Amino acid sequence: MDKLDFIYKRKSVRKFTDEKVNVEDIKEIIRAAGAAPSGTNSQNWHYVVLTNKDRIGWLADTVERKHNELQDSNISDKTKVKLKKFLHYATLFKNAPAVIVAFAKDYTFLKDSDLEGFSEEDKEVIKFSNPAMQNLGASIENLCLSAAALGYGTCWMTAPCYAYNEISEFVGMEDSIYHPVAIIPIGRADGEVPSPSKRDLDDYLTIFED
Ligand SMILES: Cc1cc2nc3c(=O)[nH]c(=O)nc-3n(C[C@H](O)[C@H](O)[C@H](O)COP(=O)(O)O)c2cc1C
Repeated sequence: MDKLDFIYKRKSVRKFTDEKVNVEDIKEIIRAAGAAPSGTNSQNWHYVVLTNKDRIGWLADTVERKHNELQDSNISDKTKVKLKKFLHYATLFKNAPAVIVAFAKDYTFLKDSDLEGFSEEDKEVIKFSNPAMQNLGASIENLCLSAAALGYGTCWMTAPCYAYNEISEFVGMEDSIYHPVAIIPIGRADGEVPSPSKRDLDDYLTIFED
């Protein structure tokens, strides 16, 4: 289906060339991220972009330091092994020519004060759909798709956000109501990008036609 090629063109890119990303392109891409749907049009996102190699490297070092701190926690050997494998997937953005940090602020249609009087079970059900994060998901997907349409590769990464406080401090947002939820490196893909297999449609679709 040619019209949907723009969807299938996007893949997670983890190796980038040194070619700089045009700032006007970054603005177009972030504008597309801002065009996403959001609950009651709350648009609860903020994007911070780094294009300086040193700054990107320091941010990766910050994430690695937090990672090493976590590694020293009182956790099982099994978790330690898992965490160790994760380090690469949390810091691979260090080789990208530009990095976008996605921030979210909290958003709910019903505020905590509105939930008084509901049963605990109903409260849980109401909160489960987490519209704040769904909004960010829609926005970040717009970002990744529009980047792919302009010929750039991206990788939507949540693993670095273990360093939630450190990332906020790094970009001077430690006192903000916005908190980091993802880091998205962006640049031209270096080499072939693998296509991971996807589930068959029949496996995840149920249709009631009449
Ligand atoms: C919410 C979310 C978090 C992700 N976090 C990471 C991450 O921290 N590091 C990473 O290398 N990839 C991360 N990915 C990329 C996935 O591994 C990737 O989307 C998946 O393997 C499918 O590959 P594709 O994007 O090429 O279709 C994340 C993707 C999503 C949607």
